[in-house]
Amino acid sequence: MDIQKEIIRITSEYFEDTLDFQKLSNASKVFKSILNTICEQDLDVEEGKKDIALSNGKALGTFWAALCLDDLLRTRQFIRGINKAIEDKRKEDKKQIHILYAGTGPFATLILPIIFRYLKEDIKYTLLEVNPFTFKILQNIISKLELEDFDIDLINSDATKFKIDSKNQPDIIISETMQNALAKEQQVPIFLNLMEQVTFDTIFIPEKIELYLGLKKEGIATETLQKKHFIKVQKVLDVSKASVFSQNQSKTEALGQKSFSKMKTVIESEKLKGFDQLVIITEIQVYKDEKIGVNDSGLTTPICIQNIPEHLKDSVIIDTQYQISSEPKLEYKITLPN
Ligand SMILES: C[S@@+](CC[C@H](N)C(=O)[O-])C[C@H]1O[C@@H](n2cnc3c(N)ncnc32)[C@H](O)[C@@H]1O
Repeated sequence: MDIQKEIIRITSEYFEDTLDFQKLSNASKVFKSILNTICEQDLDVEEGKKDIALSNGKALGTFWAALCLDDLLRTRQFIRGINKAIEDKRKEDKKQIHILYAGTGPFATLILPIIFRYLKEDIKYTLLEVNPFTFKILQNIISKLELEDFDIDLINSDATKFKIDSKNQPDIIISETMQNALAKEQQVPIFLNLMEQVTFDTIFIPEKIELYLGLKKEGIATETLQKKHFIKVQKVLDVSKASVFSQNQSKTEALGQKSFSKMKTVIESEKLKGFDQLVIITEIQVYKDEKIGVNDSGLTTPICIQNIPEHLKDSVIIDTQYQISSEPKLEYKITLPN
């Protein structure tokens, strides 16, 4: 069996414009089983399950990073978004496109279905992964897939500190190192570090991640929750190249502060009627029309931050600010009326 052709065949479902969940689920099971077989390592072991605690947040253990593939819509939307970004860059008539993928996991899941679809001279890849156990498996996967002839640099390093060679600037930067509400993992510090070092032409995938304060409709059981049961009230964070560089500051000034604006949200009691929870909502624009909406994926599951008491007589005030630390998160203070 030609493994490269088999991967193209199996993963072609990600590129189908019509979303068929059953076919997508079958394809992703086969894709994962091929990867599990060729990696020749049981990931369900102590070393594979250990997260790594870093000063800017945690990096997932190998076993958990591999599981991300099963988040079907997430994986589909990222692969499609990355492919569209490549097509856009190819229109610029570049001799070679350079893709930097920060936080590959053991399988470089988001790029593997794409690599074999392009000629090896057309794209150069830099694959960054901080977890040494994950990195060892990644090296093995690359070798087993006979990718040595491709232009691939494998680097075991922390993407929040990684220095980009100024003579070798990436055209596309990919990272999916996030959880819902941008909590715990290092998506934001990774993007800030990399944004600081590239020109505005570099495409970031995801293109935009937004956090909103929102409300959940009352009386809906958790298992039956859908997108339509949530409303957005106010945007409290926008992580995108456009927003980071939009203030009247130089890029270095904006990024040097590495702090995000404090926001105050006031929700009048009238507006709270018919809702029973205050939530943080996450939305992701992977690239152009490839998006991940509320509740479409584990990355966009709303998080409840307050049960709303009945018969409130006055407004609720919420102060928020996103903070990067060993446990990054949207910090909030909720003031309920007496
Ligand atoms: C959520 S998993 C996603 C894996 C894969 N990219 C995918 O989408 O299926 C994130 C991966 O990024 C790695 N990672 C997290 N923080 C990192 C950092 N600062 N530098 C490099 N890799 C990092 C983790 O070790 C983990 O393998």
